[in-house]
Amino acid sequence: MQTPYIITISSEKGGVGKTTLATNLAIYLKALHEDLPVTLFSFDNHFSVDQMFRIGKGKPKGDVSGLFRGVLPEELAETGQYGVQFIASSEHLHLLRREIDDPAALAANLAGSRVGGIIIIDTRPDLDIFTQNALFAADRVIVPVKDAPSLENCRHIYDFFDSNGLSRRPLRVLPCLVDARIHFDGPFRDPYQLLKAYAINRGYRCMEGFIAKSPKVESLNTNPEGKIYPVLTHGRHTDVHVQLAHVARQVYLDTLEQDHRRLDEIRLGQSREEEVRQQAFAERRAAQSPGCLVCGRQLVQEKQIEAAGYFAQTSDQRVSGFIEEECFTGLVFRHFYGAKRQIEPGDTLCDLFRESALRSYFVLRRAPHTRNFYQQQLSFYRFDDEGLEVSHKTVELQEYERKLLSRERSSLYPLLERTLFDNDGKLVDAFLLIRKVSVDFPEEILFDEQYARFSAILAKVTGQLP
Ligand SMILES: Nc1ncnc2c1ncn2[C@@H]1O[C@H](COP(=O)(O)OP(=O)(O)OP(=O)(O)O)[C@@H](O)[C@H]1O
Ligand SMILES: [Mg+2]
Repeated sequence: MQTPYIITISSEKGGVGKTTLATNLAIYLKALHEDLPVTLFSFDNHFSVDQMFRIGKGKPKGDVSGLFRGVLPEELAETGQYGVQFIASSEHLHLLRREIDDPAALAANLAGSRVGGIIIIDTRPDLDIFTQNALFAADRVIVPVKDAPSLENCRHIYDFFDSNGLSRRPLRVLPCLVDARIHFDGPFRDPYQLLKAYAINRGYRCMEGFIAKSPKVESLNTNPEGKIYPVLTHGRHTDVHVQLAHVARQVYLDTLEQDHRRLDEIRLGQSREEEVRQQAFAERRAAQSPGCLVCGRQLVQEKQIEAAGYFAQTSDQRVSGFIEEECFTGLVFRHFYGAKRQIEPGDTLCDLFRESALRSYFVLRRAPHTRNFYQQQLSFYRFDDEGLEVSHKTVELQEYERKLLSRERSSLYPLLERTLFDNDGKLVDAFLLIRKVSVDFPEEILFDEQYARFSAILAKVTGQLP
């Protein structure tokens, strides 16, 4: 199926004819080419789209808010009057406003869709995040203007395109609600000529023609049936009928002439991003020490990382790798919690520790101010999920170094040797940050998002350590 061509109707000014244009354009396009799939939805909460297109009184499958929750348009759209597909409007879209801050969210969703043909998006008289999403995805943006102030407002839409690095090519101004009875003396004979001159002066490109103000058209949404009637069926004798047909023809020709679709660009960007992500993951995975950083048992296998309980990385990124669950728990209890006996898995204390470890980051580092001391001290910190210090404890390290014969039994020594000791067995300036990983899928921590989170905590911890 061909990638859809997306038309967004937008203006910050209210009542300039956006919804009238969006809904009628859908019908005129369908009339031009019966087999062309046309899908329409609105981010406004006026339900004009629903009133005009809904057949029967059934409950809709979903509404436009689904588009921001990962539901594809084909799962939300229903077939409406005149063969137009539409997605129900939402009364509660504004509740989503705080959750969405990415103007590319809608485009990302539509890029995964199999809806072809033309998609028309009607927007609110506001440059809110939903309108921004509709602008971001568009192949063509039609900005209805009815007077000089509404034309001035176009600037914000142009600014949105500029500040997001988008080409201005899709943008077109269309004079609407033009009162044909008004005539001026001088070079601009009527409001249409005047608006067009204003637009061109400001560097805004216009659609051909305009939409006139017509009492008949205005009356189409006021009737005892509570319906909204299309110009095509109920206003055929008006100038607006001819004008809308002209706009529809222009749009249709554009879809034929322009092979390159905005969503193709988005898809290309997505696959490039995916490639970069995969590459970064592969590099990170290859950089891991193969064995458990405490006992040395091989954990990083070719296909998967096995039996890892924790991920650890030095703050200077010299070393990173995994630690077995029991190795880390044993080490913490023996060296920092002063347990005299071996802590067995299944011990209540052990379970408690593991449970709290899910919400913790651990740090091992040389105790501050012991840099030049012969007798080195090691500090063990626990930070919470947000990277704020919860507790810390300092132990003498010399003891373990001196008892060389008990090295085999001391799990701390091999860990330090692999991570924080320099060639002379002295602790380096860097620290070791340790985080619990998912038992089933330890390498998840090396994925972009999780790894970025780990790195952010590392930076935050760096800022806090004395
Ligand atoms: N060509 C026209 N002639 C006369 N009246 C029109 C015409 N087009 C739209 N109207 C009327 O103007 C009013 C505003 O139109 P419409 O709802 O399409 O504007 P809008 O820009 O979508 O408004 P909002 O910003 O509130 O969403 C409506 O009452 C509509 O019937
Ligand atoms: Mg509207």
